[in-house]
Amino acid sequence: MAAAEKQAVTGAGPFNGVLTWVDKRFPLMSLWREHLSEYYAPKNFNIWYFFGSLAMLVLVMQIVTGILLTMNYKPDAASAFASVEYIMREVPFGWLVRYMHSTGASAFFIVVYLHMMRGLMYGSYQKPRELIWIFGMMIYLCLMAEAFFGYLLPWGQMSYWGAQVIVNLFDALPIIGPDLSLWIRGDYVVSDATLNRFFAFHVIAIPLVICGLVAAHIMALHEVGSNNPDGVEIKEKKDAKGIPLDGIPFHPYYTVKDMFGASVFLFLFALVVFFAPEMGGYFLEYNNFVPADSLKTPAHIAPVWYFTPFYSILRAITEDFMWVLAAGVLGMVGLIVVTVRSATIKAASAVVGVVLLIGFFTIDPKVWGVALMGASTLIFFLLPWLDHSPVRSIRYKGGLYRFALTVFIIAFLVLGYFGVQPVTRGGTLISQFCTVLYFSFFVLMPWYSTMGKTKPVPDRVTE
Ligand code: HEM
Repeated sequence: MAAAEKQAVTGAGPFNGVLTWVDKRFPLMSLWREHLSEYYAPKNFNIWYFFGSLAMLVLVMQIVTGILLTMNYKPDAASAFASVEYIMREVPFGWLVRYMHSTGASAFFIVVYLHMMRGLMYGSYQKPRELIWIFGMMIYLCLMAEAFFGYLLPWGQMSYWGAQVIVNLFDALPIIGPDLSLWIRGDYVVSDATLNRFFAFHVIAIPLVICGLVAAHIMALHEVGSNNPDGVEIKEKKDAKGIPLDGIPFHPYYTVKDMFGASVFLFLFALVVFFAPEMGGYFLEYNNFVPADSLKTPAHIAPVWYFTPFYSILRAITEDFMWVLAAGVLGMVGLIVVTVRSATIKAASAVVGVVLLIGFFTIDPKVWGVALMGASTLIFFLLPWLDHSPVRSIRYKGGLYRFALTVFIIAFLVLGYFGVQPVTRGGTLISQFCTVLYFSFFVLMPWYSTMGKTKPVPDRVTE
Protein backbone atom coordinates (compact mmCIF):
# COMPACT_ATOMS: atom_id res chain seq x y z
CA MET A 1 0.00 0.00 0.00
CA ALA A 2 1.24 3.51 -0.86
CA ALA A 3 2.49 5.57 2.09
CA ALA A 4 -0.11 8.31 1.46
CA GLU A 5 -2.93 5.76 1.41
CA LYS A 6 -1.69 4.22 4.64
CA GLN A 7 -1.54 7.65 6.22
CA ALA A 8 -5.15 8.21 5.19
CA VAL A 9 -6.18 4.93 6.76
CA THR A 10 -4.40 5.22 10.05
CA GLY A 11 -5.01 8.97 10.35
CA ALA A 12 -2.71 11.41 12.04
CA GLY A 13 -3.55 10.49 15.63
CA PRO A 14 -1.05 9.95 18.44
CA PHE A 15 -0.96 6.18 17.74
CA ASN A 16 -0.18 6.60 14.06
CA GLY A 17 3.46 5.62 14.47
CA VAL A 18 2.64 2.51 16.48
CA LEU A 19 -0.09 1.48 14.04
CA THR A 20 2.23 1.89 11.07
CA TRP A 21 4.89 -0.15 12.88
CA VAL A 22 2.40 -2.93 13.64
CA ASP A 23 0.86 -2.81 10.18
CA LYS A 24 4.22 -3.43 8.52
CA ARG A 25 4.41 -6.68 10.48
CA PHE A 26 0.74 -7.75 10.82
CA PRO A 27 -2.32 -6.98 8.60
CA LEU A 28 -4.10 -5.07 11.38
CA MET A 29 -5.51 -2.24 9.32
CA SER A 30 -6.54 -4.45 6.43
CA LEU A 31 -8.43 -6.70 8.89
CA TRP A 32 -10.04 -3.60 10.39
CA ARG A 33 -11.09 -2.38 6.96
CA GLU A 34 -12.25 -5.75 5.66
CA HIS A 35 -14.42 -6.59 8.67
CA LEU A 36 -15.42 -3.20 10.06
CA SER A 37 -14.80 0.13 8.38
CA GLU A 38 -15.20 -1.18 4.82
CA TYR A 39 -17.57 -4.05 5.47
CA TYR A 40 -20.76 -2.72 3.90
CA ALA A 41 -23.86 -3.97 5.69
CA PRO A 42 -27.39 -3.34 4.43
CA LYS A 43 -28.75 -0.08 5.78
CA ASN A 44 -32.12 -1.56 6.76
CA PHE A 45 -31.07 -3.82 9.66
CA ASN A 46 -33.78 -3.90 12.31
CA ILE A 47 -33.99 -5.06 15.93
CA TRP A 48 -33.60 -8.72 14.87
CA TYR A 49 -30.04 -7.95 13.79
CA PHE A 50 -28.92 -7.24 17.35
CA PHE A 51 -28.79 -10.86 18.38
CA GLY A 52 -25.62 -11.91 16.52
CA SER A 53 -23.49 -9.36 18.31
CA LEU A 54 -25.34 -10.06 21.57
CA ALA A 55 -24.49 -13.76 21.20
CA MET A 56 -20.83 -12.74 20.90
CA LEU A 57 -21.14 -10.57 24.00
CA VAL A 58 -22.68 -13.42 26.01
CA LEU A 59 -20.00 -15.81 24.74
CA VAL A 60 -17.25 -13.50 26.02
CA MET A 61 -19.11 -13.01 29.31
CA GLN A 62 -19.47 -16.77 29.80
CA ILE A 63 -15.78 -17.33 29.12
CA VAL A 64 -14.67 -14.58 31.52
CA THR A 65 -17.05 -15.54 34.36
CA GLY A 66 -16.26 -19.22 33.70
CA ILE A 67 -12.53 -18.62 34.15
CA LEU A 68 -13.22 -16.78 37.43
CA LEU A 69 -15.44 -19.61 38.68
CA THR A 70 -12.82 -22.22 37.81
CA MET A 71 -10.38 -20.49 40.18
CA ASN A 72 -12.44 -21.67 43.17
CA TYR A 73 -14.49 -24.58 41.84
CA LYS A 74 -13.36 -28.17 42.61
CA PRO A 75 -14.20 -30.84 39.99
CA ASP A 76 -14.41 -33.59 42.60
CA ALA A 77 -17.60 -35.43 43.61
CA ALA A 78 -16.70 -35.05 47.30
CA SER A 79 -16.18 -31.28 47.20
CA ALA A 80 -17.89 -29.87 44.06
CA PHE A 81 -21.18 -28.92 45.76
CA ALA A 82 -19.40 -27.36 48.74
CA SER A 83 -17.00 -25.44 46.48
CA VAL A 84 -19.99 -23.80 44.72
CA GLU A 85 -21.44 -22.86 48.11
CA TYR A 86 -18.01 -21.47 49.03
CA ILE A 87 -18.03 -19.35 45.87
CA MET A 88 -21.53 -18.10 46.72
CA ARG A 89 -20.81 -17.23 50.37
CA GLU A 90 -17.08 -16.68 50.91
CA VAL A 91 -15.40 -15.59 47.68
CA PRO A 92 -15.64 -11.80 47.26
CA PHE A 93 -18.33 -11.18 44.61
CA GLY A 94 -18.40 -14.93 43.98
CA TRP A 95 -22.22 -14.83 44.09
CA LEU A 96 -22.22 -12.22 41.34
CA VAL A 97 -19.86 -14.19 39.11
CA ARG A 98 -21.84 -17.38 39.63
CA TYR A 99 -25.21 -15.74 38.97
CA MET A 100 -23.81 -14.00 35.89
CA HIS A 101 -22.64 -17.37 34.59
CA SER A 102 -25.87 -19.25 35.37
CA THR A 103 -28.07 -16.43 34.06
CA GLY A 104 -25.69 -16.12 31.10
CA ALA A 105 -26.43 -19.74 30.13
CA SER A 106 -30.16 -19.03 29.82
CA ALA A 107 -29.50 -15.64 28.19
CA PHE A 108 -27.29 -17.37 25.62
CA PHE A 109 -30.14 -19.65 24.57
CA ILE A 110 -32.70 -16.81 24.51
CA VAL A 111 -30.37 -14.75 22.29
CA VAL A 112 -29.49 -17.69 20.03
CA TYR A 113 -33.13 -18.78 19.64
CA LEU A 114 -34.07 -15.22 18.61
CA HIS A 115 -31.04 -15.13 16.28
CA MET A 116 -32.19 -18.38 14.62
CA MET A 117 -35.74 -17.08 14.44
CA ARG A 118 -34.48 -14.07 12.46
CA GLY A 119 -32.86 -16.55 10.04
CA LEU A 120 -36.22 -18.32 9.64
CA MET A 121 -38.07 -15.05 9.06
CA TYR A 122 -35.73 -13.53 6.53
CA GLY A 123 -34.57 -16.73 4.80
CA SER A 124 -30.97 -16.01 5.84
CA TYR A 125 -30.08 -19.69 5.31
CA GLN A 126 -30.94 -19.58 1.61
CA LYS A 127 -28.31 -19.52 -1.15
CA PRO A 128 -25.54 -18.25 -0.86
CA ARG A 129 -25.64 -18.34 2.98
CA GLU A 130 -25.99 -22.10 3.51
CA LEU A 131 -22.57 -22.40 5.16
CA ILE A 132 -23.28 -19.55 7.59
CA TRP A 133 -26.36 -21.52 8.64
CA ILE A 134 -24.47 -24.81 8.88
CA PHE A 135 -21.73 -23.26 11.04
CA GLY A 136 -24.52 -21.69 13.12
CA MET A 137 -26.17 -25.07 13.63
CA MET A 138 -22.84 -26.61 14.62
CA ILE A 139 -22.46 -23.81 17.19
CA TYR A 140 -25.97 -24.54 18.44
CA LEU A 141 -25.21 -28.25 18.93
CA CYS A 142 -21.97 -27.37 20.76
CA LEU A 143 -23.91 -24.92 22.90
CA MET A 144 -26.30 -27.67 23.92
CA ALA A 145 -23.38 -29.95 24.79
CA GLU A 146 -21.69 -27.12 26.69
CA ALA A 147 -24.83 -26.46 28.76
CA PHE A 148 -25.37 -30.15 29.42
CA PHE A 149 -21.79 -30.72 30.62
CA GLY A 150 -21.82 -27.55 32.69
CA TYR A 151 -25.05 -28.47 34.43
CA LEU A 152 -23.43 -31.48 36.12
CA LEU A 153 -20.71 -29.37 37.74
CA PRO A 154 -22.63 -27.93 40.77
CA TRP A 155 -23.28 -31.58 41.70
CA GLY A 156 -26.81 -30.94 42.97
CA GLN A 157 -29.71 -33.38 42.72
CA MET A 158 -30.86 -32.07 39.32
CA SER A 159 -27.28 -32.04 37.99
CA TYR A 160 -26.85 -35.63 38.99
CA TRP A 161 -30.20 -37.07 37.95
CA GLY A 162 -30.47 -34.98 34.81
CA ALA A 163 -27.11 -36.35 33.63
CA GLN A 164 -28.17 -39.86 34.66
CA VAL A 165 -31.39 -39.64 32.58
CA ILE A 166 -29.73 -38.15 29.51
CA VAL A 167 -26.74 -40.51 29.48
CA ASN A 168 -29.11 -43.45 30.01
CA LEU A 169 -30.88 -42.47 26.77
CA PHE A 170 -27.87 -43.79 24.89
CA ASP A 171 -28.63 -47.21 26.44
CA ALA A 172 -31.64 -47.42 24.15
CA LEU A 173 -29.48 -47.47 20.99
CA PRO A 174 -29.31 -50.93 19.44
CA ILE A 175 -26.10 -53.00 19.85
CA ILE A 176 -23.68 -50.27 21.00
CA GLY A 177 -26.06 -48.52 23.44
CA PRO A 178 -25.07 -50.00 26.83
CA ASP A 179 -21.33 -49.87 26.06
CA LEU A 180 -21.65 -46.32 24.76
CA SER A 181 -23.36 -44.98 27.89
CA LEU A 182 -20.81 -46.78 30.08
CA TRP A 183 -18.04 -45.18 28.03
CA ILE A 184 -19.58 -41.70 28.34
CA ARG A 185 -20.00 -41.98 32.11
CA GLY A 186 -16.70 -43.79 32.72
CA ASP A 187 -18.60 -45.77 35.36
CA TYR A 188 -21.82 -47.74 35.84
CA VAL A 189 -23.54 -44.70 37.32
CA VAL A 190 -22.79 -40.97 37.10
CA SER A 191 -19.80 -40.59 39.42
CA ASP A 192 -16.57 -38.72 40.11
CA ALA A 193 -15.12 -40.03 36.82
CA THR A 194 -18.09 -38.53 34.96
CA LEU A 195 -17.73 -35.21 36.76
CA ASN A 196 -14.03 -35.01 35.85
CA ARG A 197 -14.55 -35.60 32.16
CA PHE A 198 -17.60 -33.32 31.95
CA PHE A 199 -15.47 -30.62 33.58
CA ALA A 200 -12.75 -31.08 30.95
CA PHE A 201 -15.30 -30.81 28.14
CA HIS A 202 -17.09 -27.84 29.71
CA VAL A 203 -14.09 -25.66 30.49
CA ILE A 204 -11.84 -26.26 27.53
CA ALA A 205 -12.80 -28.70 24.76
CA ILE A 206 -16.22 -27.34 23.79
CA PRO A 207 -15.44 -23.61 24.35
CA LEU A 208 -12.45 -23.98 22.01
CA VAL A 209 -14.62 -25.56 19.34
CA ILE A 210 -17.32 -22.90 19.81
CA CYS A 211 -14.79 -20.06 19.40
CA GLY A 212 -13.41 -21.67 16.24
CA LEU A 213 -16.90 -22.14 14.85
CA VAL A 214 -17.89 -18.54 15.63
CA ALA A 215 -14.81 -17.37 13.70
CA ALA A 216 -15.82 -19.59 10.76
CA HIS A 217 -19.43 -18.31 11.03
CA ILE A 218 -18.31 -14.67 10.76
CA MET A 219 -15.79 -15.38 7.99
CA ALA A 220 -18.51 -17.11 5.95
CA LEU A 221 -20.86 -14.18 6.63
CA HIS A 222 -18.31 -11.59 5.53
CA GLU A 223 -17.48 -13.59 2.42
CA VAL A 224 -21.03 -13.44 1.04
CA GLY A 225 -22.32 -10.39 2.92
CA SER A 226 -25.27 -9.99 5.28
CA ASN A 227 -28.84 -10.65 4.33
CA ASN A 228 -31.47 -8.13 5.50
CA PRO A 229 -35.18 -7.90 6.37
CA ASP A 230 -36.08 -7.48 2.69
CA GLY A 231 -33.93 -10.39 1.55
CA VAL A 232 -32.56 -8.15 -1.24
CA GLU A 233 -28.95 -8.85 -2.33
CA ILE A 234 -27.28 -5.44 -1.83
CA LYS A 235 -24.15 -6.47 -3.75
CA GLU A 236 -26.16 -6.47 -6.98
CA LYS A 237 -26.48 -2.65 -7.05
CA LYS A 238 -23.16 -0.84 -6.61
CA ASP A 239 -21.93 2.70 -7.27
CA ALA A 240 -18.99 3.65 -9.50
CA LYS A 241 -16.52 2.86 -6.69
CA GLY A 242 -17.97 -0.63 -6.26
CA ILE A 243 -19.73 0.21 -2.97
CA PRO A 244 -23.23 -1.26 -2.56
CA LEU A 245 -25.81 1.52 -2.93
CA ASP A 246 -27.79 0.16 0.00
CA GLY A 247 -24.75 -0.56 2.15
CA ILE A 248 -23.27 1.43 5.03
CA PRO A 249 -19.89 0.78 6.69
CA PHE A 250 -20.32 -1.55 9.65
CA HIS A 251 -18.09 0.78 11.66
CA PRO A 252 -19.17 3.28 12.91
CA TYR A 253 -22.86 2.80 12.01
CA TYR A 254 -23.51 -0.68 13.33
CA THR A 255 -20.83 -0.69 16.03
CA VAL A 256 -22.68 2.23 17.63
CA LYS A 257 -26.08 0.63 17.05
CA ASP A 258 -24.84 -2.67 18.55
CA MET A 259 -23.50 -0.80 21.58
CA PHE A 260 -26.99 0.54 22.16
CA GLY A 261 -28.40 -3.00 21.82
CA ALA A 262 -25.75 -4.30 24.24
CA SER A 263 -26.67 -1.59 26.79
CA VAL A 264 -30.36 -2.50 26.71
CA PHE A 265 -29.48 -6.20 26.95
CA LEU A 266 -27.09 -5.65 29.88
CA PHE A 267 -29.73 -3.61 31.70
CA LEU A 268 -32.27 -6.45 31.41
CA PHE A 269 -29.57 -9.00 32.23
CA ALA A 270 -28.63 -7.09 35.40
CA LEU A 271 -32.29 -7.00 36.48
CA VAL A 272 -32.38 -10.80 36.34
CA VAL A 273 -28.95 -11.29 37.96
CA PHE A 274 -29.78 -8.97 40.88
CA PHE A 275 -33.49 -9.57 41.40
CA ALA A 276 -34.43 -13.00 39.99
CA PRO A 277 -31.32 -15.13 39.37
CA GLU A 278 -33.26 -18.37 39.87
CA MET A 279 -36.14 -17.07 37.71
CA GLY A 280 -38.71 -19.08 39.62
CA GLY A 281 -36.73 -22.29 39.26
CA TYR A 282 -36.36 -22.00 35.48
CA PHE A 283 -32.78 -20.68 35.34
CA LEU A 284 -31.59 -22.49 38.49
CA GLU A 285 -33.78 -25.38 39.58
CA TYR A 286 -34.67 -25.56 43.28
CA ASN A 287 -33.68 -29.20 43.54
CA ASN A 288 -30.18 -28.27 42.55
CA PHE A 289 -29.63 -26.59 45.91
CA VAL A 290 -29.73 -30.10 47.41
CA PRO A 291 -26.43 -32.04 47.14
CA ALA A 292 -26.38 -34.98 44.69
CA ASP A 293 -27.54 -38.21 46.27
CA SER A 294 -27.21 -41.37 44.19
CA LEU A 295 -29.69 -43.19 46.47
CA LYS A 296 -32.52 -40.65 46.31
CA THR A 297 -34.20 -39.98 42.96
CA PRO A 298 -36.12 -36.64 42.89
CA ALA A 299 -39.87 -37.05 42.26
CA HIS A 300 -39.81 -34.90 39.13
CA ILE A 301 -36.74 -34.70 36.89
CA ALA A 302 -36.90 -32.07 34.15
CA PRO A 303 -34.12 -30.55 32.07
CA VAL A 304 -33.52 -26.79 32.03
CA TRP A 305 -36.08 -24.85 29.95
CA TYR A 306 -33.95 -24.56 26.80
CA PHE A 307 -33.92 -28.34 26.32
CA THR A 308 -37.57 -28.95 27.11
CA PRO A 309 -39.06 -28.76 23.58
CA PHE A 310 -36.81 -31.65 22.59
CA TYR A 311 -37.42 -33.49 25.86
CA SER A 312 -41.17 -33.25 25.17
CA ILE A 313 -40.65 -34.84 21.76
CA LEU A 314 -38.75 -37.67 23.45
CA ARG A 315 -41.60 -38.25 25.89
CA ALA A 316 -44.26 -37.94 23.18
CA ILE A 317 -43.08 -41.09 21.38
CA THR A 318 -45.20 -43.78 22.99
CA GLU A 319 -46.26 -47.17 21.64
CA ASP A 320 -49.63 -45.79 20.40
CA PHE A 321 -47.88 -42.92 18.68
CA MET A 322 -46.04 -45.36 16.39
CA TRP A 323 -49.30 -45.63 14.41
CA VAL A 324 -49.31 -41.88 13.88
CA LEU A 325 -45.69 -42.02 12.74
CA ALA A 326 -46.53 -44.88 10.38
CA ALA A 327 -49.44 -42.87 8.92
CA GLY A 328 -47.10 -39.87 8.51
CA VAL A 329 -44.50 -41.93 6.64
CA LEU A 330 -47.16 -43.44 4.36
CA GLY A 331 -48.52 -39.96 3.66
CA MET A 332 -45.05 -38.61 2.83
CA VAL A 333 -44.24 -41.52 0.50
CA GLY A 334 -47.63 -41.02 -1.20
CA LEU A 335 -46.95 -37.29 -1.63
CA ILE A 336 -43.50 -37.94 -3.11
CA VAL A 337 -44.80 -40.61 -5.50
CA VAL A 338 -47.62 -38.37 -6.75
CA THR A 339 -45.73 -35.07 -7.02
CA VAL A 340 -42.06 -35.84 -7.76
CA ARG A 341 -41.04 -36.65 -11.34
CA SER A 342 -37.75 -38.50 -10.76
CA ALA A 343 -38.27 -42.28 -10.71
CA THR A 344 -35.13 -42.73 -8.57
CA ILE A 345 -36.48 -40.45 -5.83
CA LYS A 346 -39.85 -42.21 -5.94
CA ALA A 347 -38.18 -45.63 -5.59
CA ALA A 348 -35.81 -44.43 -2.86
CA SER A 349 -38.63 -42.91 -0.82
CA ALA A 350 -40.67 -46.13 -1.12
CA VAL A 351 -37.69 -48.18 0.12
CA VAL A 352 -37.00 -45.79 3.03
CA GLY A 353 -40.73 -45.83 3.85
CA VAL A 354 -40.87 -49.63 4.01
CA VAL A 355 -37.71 -49.79 6.17
CA LEU A 356 -39.15 -47.19 8.56
CA LEU A 357 -42.52 -48.97 8.79
CA ILE A 358 -40.83 -52.27 9.64
CA GLY A 359 -38.63 -50.45 12.16
CA PHE A 360 -41.58 -48.72 13.84
CA PHE A 361 -43.18 -52.01 14.79
CA THR A 362 -40.08 -54.08 15.56
CA ILE A 363 -37.81 -51.64 17.42
CA ASP A 364 -38.65 -50.36 20.92
CA PRO A 365 -40.56 -47.00 20.77
CA LYS A 366 -37.98 -45.63 23.26
CA VAL A 367 -35.32 -45.93 20.54
CA TRP A 368 -37.59 -43.95 18.21
CA GLY A 369 -38.04 -41.37 20.95
CA VAL A 370 -34.28 -40.84 21.11
CA ALA A 371 -34.02 -40.88 17.31
CA LEU A 372 -36.77 -38.28 16.88
CA MET A 373 -35.36 -36.11 19.63
CA GLY A 374 -32.03 -36.13 17.76
CA ALA A 375 -33.79 -35.55 14.44
CA SER A 376 -35.70 -32.57 15.85
CA THR A 377 -32.45 -30.62 16.19
CA LEU A 378 -30.54 -32.07 13.24
CA ILE A 379 -33.36 -31.36 10.78
CA PHE A 380 -32.54 -27.62 11.01
CA PHE A 381 -29.35 -28.36 9.03
CA LEU A 382 -31.51 -29.21 6.00
CA LEU A 383 -33.44 -25.93 5.91
CA PRO A 384 -31.45 -24.37 3.03
CA TRP A 385 -32.48 -27.32 0.85
CA LEU A 386 -36.03 -27.71 2.11
CA ASP A 387 -37.08 -24.12 1.40
CA HIS A 388 -37.85 -23.85 -2.32
CA SER A 389 -39.44 -20.43 -2.11
CA PRO A 390 -38.35 -18.00 -4.89
CA VAL A 391 -38.10 -15.19 -2.31
CA ARG A 392 -36.14 -14.98 0.94
CA SER A 393 -37.91 -12.71 3.35
CA ILE A 394 -41.19 -13.44 5.07
CA ARG A 395 -42.23 -9.94 3.98
CA TYR A 396 -42.66 -11.20 0.42
CA LYS A 397 -43.37 -14.89 0.97
CA GLY A 398 -46.87 -16.33 0.52
CA GLY A 399 -49.40 -16.51 3.36
CA LEU A 400 -48.85 -20.25 3.69
CA TYR A 401 -45.24 -19.81 4.82
CA ARG A 402 -46.26 -17.20 7.40
CA PHE A 403 -48.92 -19.58 8.68
CA ALA A 404 -46.49 -22.53 8.80
CA LEU A 405 -43.85 -20.50 10.67
CA THR A 406 -46.41 -19.21 13.20
CA VAL A 407 -47.71 -22.74 13.84
CA PHE A 408 -44.14 -24.02 14.20
CA ILE A 409 -43.24 -21.38 16.77
CA ILE A 410 -46.40 -22.06 18.77
CA ALA A 411 -45.72 -25.83 18.65
CA PHE A 412 -42.12 -25.23 19.81
CA LEU A 413 -43.31 -23.12 22.77
CA VAL A 414 -46.07 -25.56 23.74
CA LEU A 415 -43.59 -28.46 23.59
CA GLY A 416 -41.25 -26.41 25.77
CA TYR A 417 -44.02 -25.84 28.30
CA PHE A 418 -45.01 -29.50 28.56
CA GLY A 419 -41.35 -30.53 28.84
CA VAL A 420 -41.14 -28.95 32.30
CA GLN A 421 -44.45 -30.45 33.48
CA PRO A 422 -44.86 -33.90 35.00
CA VAL A 423 -46.30 -36.45 32.54
CA THR A 424 -50.11 -36.44 32.24
CA ARG A 425 -52.38 -38.07 29.65
CA GLY A 426 -53.57 -34.70 28.32
CA GLY A 427 -50.05 -33.24 28.25
CA THR A 428 -48.77 -36.25 26.30
CA LEU A 429 -51.58 -35.94 23.73
CA ILE A 430 -50.89 -32.24 23.21
CA SER A 431 -47.12 -32.91 22.95
CA GLN A 432 -47.81 -35.61 20.36
CA PHE A 433 -49.94 -33.22 18.32
CA CYS A 434 -47.23 -30.54 18.54
CA THR A 435 -44.56 -33.09 17.57
CA VAL A 436 -46.51 -33.72 14.36
CA LEU A 437 -46.76 -29.97 13.71
CA TYR A 438 -43.04 -29.51 14.49
CA PHE A 439 -41.88 -32.08 11.96
CA SER A 440 -44.52 -31.10 9.39
CA PHE A 441 -42.99 -27.61 9.25
CA PHE A 442 -39.78 -29.15 7.87
CA VAL A 443 -40.86 -32.17 5.85
CA LEU A 444 -43.70 -30.38 4.03
CA MET A 445 -41.62 -27.26 3.36
CA PRO A 446 -40.53 -28.27 -0.18
CA TRP A 447 -44.23 -28.23 -1.11
CA TYR A 448 -45.79 -25.36 0.80
CA SER A 449 -42.81 -23.02 0.24
CA THR A 450 -43.63 -22.98 -3.49
CA MET A 451 -47.39 -22.62 -3.01
CA GLY A 452 -49.31 -19.39 -2.59
CA LYS A 453 -48.69 -16.04 -4.22
CA THR A 454 -45.45 -14.24 -3.33
CA LYS A 455 -45.31 -10.44 -3.29
CA PRO A 456 -42.95 -8.67 -5.72
CA VAL A 457 -39.51 -8.14 -4.12
CA PRO A 458 -38.30 -4.50 -4.46
CA ASP A 459 -35.09 -3.74 -6.39
CA ARG A 460 -33.56 -1.87 -3.48
CA VAL A 461 -34.00 -2.30 0.27
CA THR A 462 -36.95 -0.50 1.90
CA GLU A 463 -36.44 1.48 5.08
C1 HEM B 1 -22.39 -18.35 19.73
C2 HEM B 1 -23.37 -18.29 18.87
C3 HEM B 1 -23.45 -17.36 17.71
C4 HEM B 1 -22.78 -16.20 17.48
C5 HEM B 1 -21.77 -15.51 18.40
C6 HEM B 1 -23.23 -15.68 16.21
C7 HEM B 1 -22.79 -14.49 15.66
C8 HEM B 1 -23.33 -13.92 14.52
C9 HEM B 1 -23.08 -12.57 14.08
C10 HEM B 1 -22.21 -11.54 14.83
C11 HEM B 1 -23.76 -12.38 12.94
C12 HEM B 1 -23.84 -11.06 12.14
C13 HEM B 1 -24.82 -10.12 12.81
C14 HEM B 1 -26.25 -10.57 12.67
O1 HEM B 1 -26.64 -10.89 11.55
O2 HEM B 1 -26.96 -10.65 13.70
C15 HEM B 1 -24.42 -13.61 12.59
C16 HEM B 1 -25.20 -13.85 11.47
C17 HEM B 1 -25.85 -15.04 11.19
N1 HEM B 1 -25.98 -16.13 12.03
FE1 HEM B 1 -25.07 -16.34 13.83
N2 HEM B 1 -24.14 -16.55 15.66
C18 HEM B 1 -24.30 -17.59 16.54
C19 HEM B 1 -25.15 -18.68 16.37
C20 HEM B 1 -25.93 -18.91 15.26
C21 HEM B 1 -26.83 -20.01 15.10
C22 HEM B 1 -27.09 -21.07 16.17
C23 HEM B 1 -27.39 -19.91 13.86
C24 HEM B 1 -28.38 -20.79 13.17
C25 HEM B 1 -28.41 -22.05 13.19
C26 HEM B 1 -26.84 -18.73 13.23
C27 HEM B 1 -27.16 -18.29 11.95
C28 HEM B 1 -26.77 -17.07 11.42
C29 HEM B 1 -27.14 -16.59 10.11
C30 HEM B 1 -27.98 -17.33 9.06
C31 HEM B 1 -26.57 -15.31 9.96
C32 HEM B 1 -26.68 -14.38 8.74
C33 HEM B 1 -27.90 -13.55 8.99
C34 HEM B 1 -28.21 -12.54 7.95
O3 HEM B 1 -27.29 -12.06 7.26
O4 HEM B 1 -29.42 -12.25 7.84
N3 HEM B 1 -25.97 -18.15 14.11
N4 HEM B 1 -24.15 -14.53 13.59
